[in-house]
Amino acid sequence: MNVLGVETSCDETSVAIVKDGKKILSNIISSSLPLHKRYGGVIPEIASRAHLESISFVTQEALSKAKLKLKDIDLFAVTRDPGLPGSLLVGNSFVKALNFSLKKPLVEVDHIKAHLYACFLEKNRPRLPFIGFVVSGGHTELFYVKNFSAFKRLGTTLDDAAGEAFDKVAKILKLGYPGGPIIDKLSRGIKTASIRFGCANIPNSFDFSFSGVKTAVLYFSRDKKKMRSTNVKEVSFSFQKSVVDVLVDKAINASLAKKTRTIVMGGGVVANSYLRKRISEEAKLNNIKVFYPSIGLCKDNAAMVAGLGYRLFTKK
Ligand code: KG4
Ligand code: ZN
Repeated sequence: MNVLGVETSCDETSVAIVKDGKKILSNIISSSLPLHKRYGGVIPEIASRAHLESISFVTQEALSKAKLKLKDIDLFAVTRDPGLPGSLLVGNSFVKALNFSLKKPLVEVDHIKAHLYACFLEKNRPRLPFIGFVVSGGHTELFYVKNFSAFKRLGTTLDDAAGEAFDKVAKILKLGYPGGPIIDKLSRGIKTASIRFGCANIPNSFDFSFSGVKTAVLYFSRDKKKMRSTNVKEVSFSFQKSVVDVLVDKAINASLAKKTRTIVMGGGVVANSYLRKRISEEAKLNNIKVFYPSIGLCKDNAAMVAGLGYRLFTKK
C-alpha cells in the first residue's frame, strides 16, 4: 500500500511516500527556516504562506522521486494537530482536496505520535509496548504506548519544551536560531560542567520544567564578572548537561516504573549528540533497549506521518 503523507505543522513543508508503513520511497522537506531566522523564532504567518507556495512542488517532487503518479497512491495521511493553525490548514485543505477528487481514503494523524513512528521506519524496529519519549521544539512528552491507538500520557512539560529552552538559551547567548544544533556543536569536546545550572527535577512525577534553567542562564549571562571567567562553550555545555540529566533520568525511571524495557524516542532534540550518548549509556546499565531515529527522521518530516497513517488505517 502506497501512502502519501503530508506534514505542515510548523516551518517544514514535507510530503513523503511510504510503502506498507515501512519503506520510504521519498521524503521531501522544504523548510521556511531561513525566512524566520532574523526574528529568532517561527513567525506563523510567514510559515503558512511558505507552505502555500511550496506544497504543490514538494508533492510533485515526492511523486517523481518515488517514480509514482497520484493514481498509484492508495491512502493519504496528514498531520491534523498539534501545530500552528494556519500551517495545519494548508496541509489539511490540500490533502482533503486530493482525497475528494481521487476518492482515496484519508487518515488524520497526531504530530506527536507520528514522531514516535519515525523509529519504525528504521531497519531495527522496536517492539510494543514501549515508553514513548517525544522531545522537540514544542513538546516534551512521556507516554506508555501499548499500541499506536493506545497512548497513556505519563508526563509533560509544565512550561517550556526542551527544544524551546535550547532555542531561548541560544538567543540569550546570542548564538543564533535554532539554538539546539548550535549548542550541541559548541558543547562537543567538553566533558564536565563547570557551571551548575539547576534544572527542575520534579520528584515523584514524570512532568518536566525548563523555564528555571533558562532563567538561570539569563542571570548568569548578565553577570559580566562571571561571564569573563568562563566562555560560551562552557556555558552551553553546562546548560545542555542540566537538561539532558533530567531527560535521561525521567525516561529511565518511566521505563523501570512501567516495567517496559523499551524506550522509543522522537523529535528534533533527539538529534542532540550528548542526549543520544547519555541515554544509550544509562539504558545499557539498566538493561533497557533505547531506540532513536536517524538524524534526518528526528526533525519534522512526512514519512513518519505516512507511516503512522498506514498503521492506524490497517490496524496492523
Ligand atoms: O521536532 P522539531 O523539528 O519541531 C517540533 O515539532 O518542535 O524540533 C525542533 C527543535 C528546535 O527547538 C531545535 O532547536 C531542536 O529541535 N533541535 C535540537 C538539535 N537539533 C534540533 N536540540 C538540541 N540538539 C540538537 N542537535
Ligand atoms: Zn515535531
